[in-house]
Amino acid sequence: MLLRIVKYGDPVLETVAEPVTEFGTAELKQLVEDMFETMYANKGIGLAAPQVNLSKRLFVCDVSAGEDPGAKLALINPEILVKEGRQVGEEGCLSIPGFREDVARAYRIRVRAQNTDGEFFEMEAEDLKSRCIQHEYDHLNGILFLAHLSHLKRDLIRRKIRKLVKSGEWE
Ligand code: NI
Repeated sequence: MLLRIVKYGDPVLETVAEPVTEFGTAELKQLVEDMFETMYANKGIGLAAPQVNLSKRLFVCDVSAGEDPGAKLALINPEILVKEGRQVGEEGCLSIPGFREDVARAYRIRVRAQNTDGEFFEMEAEDLKSRCIQHEYDHLNGILFLAHLSHLKRDLIRRKIRKLVKSGEWE
């Protein structure tokens, strides 16, 4: 089922999400499937629960954009354990459509998370996958990629979005 993606301006996007506490349920598995479906339908490579108006600590990523089934990642209650190096690259966000900016992130990370059955696992990621996980992880803490930009760029984007809101083009 396709879920509605909330856009910048909705307070859920700037709220710290709550941990997931119930695992192994059909509901949780369906939610993860629906998040993948919604992400692919919107041509994104990552989607966090707050973006579908659910203030819970989980997100999905697939840097292959659906090309490689092995690239599908669902991280629940994730924690970034290690960050190394630096990369700068363009990011966008399905909740801030139409805007893309360069963002500096760690190049390599190590993450611990739970799967839908509640089992803990650890993984390493670098380059784009690492960037995607850091971006989605930020969403769980109510942080948008705009927070990583200069004041000047952030204010410019906010002004443009305010205009879109006024003209009814931001729904
Ligand atoms: Ni995003």
